[in-house]
Amino acid sequence: MVAKKPRIVIIGAGMAGLAAADRLYTSTISKDMFELCVVEGGPRIGGRINTSEFGGDRIEMGATWIHGIGGSQVHKIAQEIHSLESEQPWECMDGFLDEPKTIAEGGFELSPSLVQSISTLFKNLMDYAQGKLMEGKENSEEVNFYRLVAKAFKVCPSNVGGPGKLSLGSFLRQVLNAHWDSVKEQEQIEGCDNWSTKLVEEAIFAMHENVRRTCTSAGDLMNLDFGAESEYRMFPGEEITIAKGYLSVIESLASVLPHGLIQLGRKVTGIQWQREAHRSTENGCADRPMKIHFCDGSIMLADHILLTVPLGVLKAGIGSDSGMFNPPLPTFKTEAISRLGFGVVNKMFLQLSSSHDGRDEDCNKFPFLQMAFHRPDSELRHKKIPWWMRRTASLSPIYKNSSVLVSWFAGKEALEHEALSDEEIIDGVSTTISSFLSQPHKQSSSSSHEQCNGKVNSLGNGDENGVKFTKVLRTKWGNDPLFLGSYSYVAVGSSGDDLDILAEPLPRISTLESASSPPLQILFAGEATHRTHYSTTHGAYFSGLREASRLLQHYRCVGV
Ligand SMILES: Cc1cc2nc3c(=O)[nH]c(=O)nc-3n(C[C@H](O)[C@H](O)[C@H](O)COP(=O)(O)OP(=O)(O)OC[C@H]3O[C@@H](n4cnc5c(N)ncnc54)[C@H](O)[C@@H]3O)c2cc1C
Ligand SMILES: *[C@@H]1O[C@H](CO)[C@@H](O)[C@H](O)[C@H]1NC(C)=O
Ligand SMILES: *[C@@H]1O[C@H](CO)[C@@H](O)[C@H](O)[C@H]1NC(C)=O
Ligand SMILES: *[C@@H]1O[C@H](CO)[C@@H](O)[C@H](O)[C@H]1NC(C)=O
Repeated sequence: MVAKKPRIVIIGAGMAGLAAADRLYTSTISKDMFELCVVEGGPRIGGRINTSEFGGDRIEMGATWIHGIGGSQVHKIAQEIHSLESEQPWECMDGFLDEPKTIAEGGFELSPSLVQSISTLFKNLMDYAQGKLMEGKENSEEVNFYRLVAKAFKVCPSNVGGPGKLSLGSFLRQVLNAHWDSVKEQEQIEGCDNWSTKLVEEAIFAMHENVRRTCTSAGDLMNLDFGAESEYRMFPGEEITIAKGYLSVIESLASVLPHGLIQLGRKVTGIQWQREAHRSTENGCADRPMKIHFCDGSIMLADHILLTVPLGVLKAGIGSDSGMFNPPLPTFKTEAISRLGFGVVNKMFLQLSSSHDGRDEDCNKFPFLQMAFHRPDSELRHKKIPWWMRRTASLSPIYKNSSVLVSWFAGKEALEHEALSDEEIIDGVSTTISSFLSQPHKQSSSSSHEQCNGKVNSLGNGDENGVKFTKVLRTKWGNDPLFLGSYSYVAVGSSGDDLDILAEPLPRISTLESASSPPLQILFAGEATHRTHYSTTHGAYFSGLREASRLLQHYRCVGV
């Protein structure tokens, strides 16, 4: 009888799955050693990378940025395949490079100096939380900052977040409150209706918090672990987007694989594995110990499964009514899966009607708009602005001239957004915009005051709102059964250890019962299995390589 090659089944054709497949397939020694396939539940490869088109522009529905080009493998690949340049414009938010316009609800443009002081406080707080300890700051600023933190926590700043269960959200707010205690009085800002300095500071602070919510996917920063912030690693250097689209990197990984190795539309519904060694099966003991069930009722036997489905799918898969795993995953796994956070972040794209696209003269250009809202419970709030807009930080063209605007949503606002109709969204955004970019005739009264530049010029040419949208496209990562969310975060009550636990293969080597079970049955990759680069494409990429190496080492394929 001819010895069978070990069969490796990779579940999921996202970054992690394809990085692993690429490595396993191209590793010269292993080429003829394994029977390899990738099964993907959806109709396309890429997973949370989905480059698409809207209003004639190339857009990203999922992953958008390379978070720091220094040391990023994703950047390296993009560079090698010449994906970083394009003739055609792309979603690069070059508005970030310009001065953004920060406007307070009601249409009051805030002066850069007012915005900057509270933005600096926020940035210092994030640097502190991330363990960057105020690098390169003026001495006096540093001393003042530490005094503030000490005041907020009534302890030495280095003890902040010690053994407790401090959230990032609570850390931020405690220091903000200490800051307010230390300023003498809250003056009203002339010409800005009822905005006081304190209200403006709060609104700008909240705007930065909302950016953090989308960066981390923690719908509520009160659920985001403070301690984990300092473990998270960013690559140095610029953050850029990929001119030819993020998908070009995925396609490059897939291009080396032979036709048919990736099977699309193969959604896995069940995985039977062997926690304990079976005495006798028709296949013998170590041979193809696992059975994969697909949604169409078909099955596939496997020696090794590399599971790369999103954490949201794992969370659903361990639920009592799912029974995706048979036997169920051991407790150490299910507990880590439950403890870690997996939030919803969605992007919304809107197309401006042609009379307002950026291709007109300068004064008609839609700005890089940062929105400072009143608190959702404030009496001063504009009642017609929908609640789901109130925790959105910005709205901006996807590149300087584009007629396509993008905005990011997180948490329950993002989920609500998925349920609305296109018309409801266009209405809600238009109402919001008209409160921020209001009519020219309202401009007058206030322009003298230094902190508030008064009502903003309308972008329009006389019609009620000034700005009109012709269509909208939004992502729906929260309700998509193949994702059930956007990316992972370390929630209060979990820690980096849980990310490591998620990465451990099954059965666990240390447990007695598994001593005679076939080893490395279920391996885990995906962004949520990387301790320091979770939530990113390069974290997913690394995790795929890690598990490919684990298998190659198991079969003593050296040189990997
Ligand atoms: C809106 C958004 C913005 C983002 N922005 C950035 C960014 O700017 N920079 C960055 O680095 N990262 C970003 N990310 C995160 C990044 O996209 C992910 O971390 C990364 O792509 C995850 O890769 P993965 O291989 O771990 O998982 P995925 O890409 O999710 O791949 C898993 C695959 O498993 C499949 N699958 C699920 N269930 C089953 C099943 N039962 N059977 C078979 N197949 C199944 C899915 O269809 C999917 O293709 C963003 C994500 C989102 C959603
Ligand atoms: C991916 O993009 C296509 C359009 O290019 C869209 O139809 C599809 O819904 C997107 N999928 C996800 C999960 O965003
Ligand atoms: C706003 O301020 C004015 C006076 O400056 C006051 O009369 C009015 O009641 C305030 N509005 C609200 C809602 O507090
Ligand atoms: C922006 O528009 C101007 C004027 O139409 C044009 O000359 C320029 O090339 C455009 N820039 C981009 C990046 O599209």
